[in-house]
Amino acid sequence: MTDHTSQHTLAARSLKAVWHPCTQMKLHEAAPPIAIARAEGVWLHGVDGQRYLDGVSSWWVNLFGHSHPHIRAALVDQLGRLDHIMLAGFTHEPVVALSEKLAALTGLGHASYASDGASATEIALKMSAHYWRNMGRPEKCQFVGVAGGYHGETVGALAVTDIALFREAYAPLVRLAATVPSPDARQALPAETGDTGESAVDVAERAAKALEQWLDQHHSRTAALIVEPLVQCAAGMAMHDPHYLRRARALCDHYNLHLVVDEIATGFGRTGTMFAHQQAGIRPDFICLSKGLTGGTLPLSAVLTTDAVYKAFYDDSVARGFLHSHSYTGNPLACRAALATLELFDQTNALVNNQTLAAQMTTAFLPLTQHPRVTHARHLGMIWAWDVRSTLPNFSRRYHQHALAHGVLLRPIGNTLYAMPPYLMDDEAVAHLAQGALAALHATLAEEHA
Ligand SMILES: Cc1ncc(COP(=O)(O)O)c(C=O)c1O
Repeated sequence: MTDHTSQHTLAARSLKAVWHPCTQMKLHEAAPPIAIARAEGVWLHGVDGQRYLDGVSSWWVNLFGHSHPHIRAALVDQLGRLDHIMLAGFTHEPVVALSEKLAALTGLGHASYASDGASATEIALKMSAHYWRNMGRPEKCQFVGVAGGYHGETVGALAVTDIALFREAYAPLVRLAATVPSPDARQALPAETGDTGESAVDVAERAAKALEQWLDQHHSRTAALIVEPLVQCAAGMAMHDPHYLRRARALCDHYNLHLVVDEIATGFGRTGTMFAHQQAGIRPDFICLSKGLTGGTLPLSAVLTTDAVYKAFYDDSVARGFLHSHSYTGNPLACRAALATLELFDQTNALVNNQTLAAQMTTAFLPLTQHPRVTHARHLGMIWAWDVRSTLPNFSRRYHQHALAHGVLLRPIGNTLYAMPPYLMDDEAVAHLAQGALAALHATLAEEHA
């Protein structure tokens, strides 16, 4: 009798029935999708009994491990009370409590909800442009983003996503935003005789000057600048100095446009502070949140903004209101999962404990960092990244497969290898991740000569 839930059959059924994301489906002929039966803590368990350490927090969403009992209990409790209610004309305790909590954490307010990161980007862009329209400045409806930026893949979000592979096919559909140079610290010019070379601050200042030049020309038609603070994750964990954010804030004030920080990937402790922009000591006009917000359990995103923005919409005219909606806006289950996740920050003292864990991880990664093919080793909070010099075509795909063979889920971006694990890692998990990542590097580089 055929086992309809074996790895082989589930992969085959999936390839017939499911269109997998971010995937050229034909490539699955060589490497079928892996069927996962359950997950607990940092471990994913395949239906075939294989286990994998989740080194990328399931696309950067998981914070406290899978199936955390505290989040699970909150969800079960909520399911017995209220599963869903439309948020237009109604409200409920979880959405109120979550909005209050997010306001306290961010110093912004008036939380507007959606389900995915890209939808949060859409909200921020629409709200910003609509604000200027309500203020009698309808011409301020253009956006500017940073080179290599990633803000999601819906048609509106693609306008500010500067990754050709994701955008090119849809170019005719997209109302392209302007792009200014990235402050990526890897662009630092090396030392030459007589000088010390550029620092990360120098690169940030160079990028800020380019932004200033651009704004000087275009500010009158620009609604907002959107940035991923401190780490441009999808660009290959490109990290920059907080100096750039301080300069960007000052320039947005000077030229009268909004600063949108997209903390969808960097939020909730990922960079060491609750939110990355806090390391620059700035206050944005909009913050976009998602991914870790529910600890990786349910889709939820939020945009918070200033009282000034909110007031510009508060009016007798319905059309001046922000009428954006989704059916599942502020879903009670997702909000409860988010509240339970935020409680875990206090219960586990996560931000402080992560410092100890990060030091342990950095030490465990030393053999990788010091590998002769590795350049630009970098680390911030709970993100580690390395660039690998390799001529192997499809380095990323090859590495991913080797890592899986060593029981680790890692998905390089181009030749950038990175780890972004959950926050609760015991000694065994740290060693397994570091050793698996190194073993996969050796196995991948060995293929160059095969
Ligand atoms: C910075 C940033 N913004 C937006 C998004 C889009 O989020 P989603 O995939 O949930 O639409 C991502 C996803 O990786 C992201 O990293």
